[in-house]
Amino acid sequence: MLTFHTPLDLVRERLPEVPVACVRPERVSIAATWFRDNFPGDVLYAVKANPSPWALDAVYAAGLRWFDVASEQEIQLIASRYPDAKMAFMHPVKSRKAIERAYFEHGVRVFSLDCEAELEKIVCATQRAEDLTLIVRLAVSNQDAAYALSNKFGVSEEAAPALLQKARRYADNLGVSFHVGSQCMSPSAYRDAMDLASGVILKAAVTVDVVDVGGGFPSAYPGMTPPDLELYVKVIKSAFEGMPVVMNAKLWCEPGRALVAESTSILARVELVKDGALHINDGSYGNLFDAAHCKWPFPVKAHRADGAFEGGEQTFKLYGPTCDSMDAMEGPFSLPADIREGDYIEFGMLGAYGVAMQTRFNGFGDTETIHVEDLPWTSMYAVVEKRAASAARRPGRKSPRRLKVVR
Ligand SMILES: Cc1ncc(COP(=O)(O)O)c(C=O)c1O
Repeated sequence: MLTFHTPLDLVRERLPEVPVACVRPERVSIAATWFRDNFPGDVLYAVKANPSPWALDAVYAAGLRWFDVASEQEIQLIASRYPDAKMAFMHPVKSRKAIERAYFEHGVRVFSLDCEAELEKIVCATQRAEDLTLIVRLAVSNQDAAYALSNKFGVSEEAAPALLQKARRYADNLGVSFHVGSQCMSPSAYRDAMDLASGVILKAAVTVDVVDVGGGFPSAYPGMTPPDLELYVKVIKSAFEGMPVVMNAKLWCEPGRALVAESTSILARVELVKDGALHINDGSYGNLFDAAHCKWPFPVKAHRADGAFEGGEQTFKLYGPTCDSMDAMEGPFSLPADIREGDYIEFGMLGAYGVAMQTRFNGFGDTETIHVEDLPWTSMYAVVEKRAASAARRPGRKSPRRLKVVR
């Protein structure tokens, strides 16, 4: 992978023709190491957040060996890259063939479910295997999350006890899981979900071997400054201690966003300025799905290859490159008023659900990946972050961006 010190250096030297993912694998290492050292249980990286080889390698190099996979493609990717990795197939809806191949060809033993029909599929497709870890996903409140995930999956509190009892009959190990929603802004959401899980377990009167608190751990975006991650871990740890589970029950989490969001920014080129809007070469069918469809507040910065911007800032709406009028990012994005064709816009904090979401619609979708050495916009990993910031300021090295440490 090519390396540039900063995205601006890259713009000056290469004038990239297609969008560029400016990646900082060391930020993934810092995040994964933090989770490894601070979460009091097993950390399963949610591959869907960013399945790029450099991101997976950074997670693996930090010592994480568990991966939360949602599809056969993700299973094959992890199995081929890391033969010693352990995988949990955490999509609550899987085809029988996918379950069968996961179990018999890839050694997957952990499967999630949220209804009896899926339990029946898992039991049949694995030929009534006796070494299954079955994780029952519970529906929990997503009210503290910026991105709710509660509409589609999760058994209701009322129906959960009966499902747990049925799953217990086939499970070597039985677990409960939930997802409090992505970018969860309040640690108490985990405690509330764990309290709900405790109630359901007591009603079912089953032994439970695994508590999986899912993903949802936040990153920092403009206007969204979450509490310290330490607080999330503290709340989870204390709630876990009070749960009616077996003595040596395992605690798991499945972070996606929190491990990768800070690592990547996306560089897109302005192709046209028209009627107060900017048409750029990346959009909702590319790396900017969340900016378009969720109005996610990604930070932006403009880069000019051959000079400086003059005058003040102005707010712009952005259009992506495809012919679909839904390929639009309302923003508003505050950028230099004199921005013009050939300038570049860098979107920060796009390591999660960025490149992972891109399509080939309309023939677009090429993205270059380039390693950059500057700091991300913000970081949740305050202590390690401070160390990295002082290293970046060492003599002879120009620090391109002041680091805002979230605390
Ligand atoms: C089952 C499961 N686990 C983990 C994650 C990762 O969530 P996050 O990126 O919010 O940490 C997701 C995201 O959709 C998920 O569906």
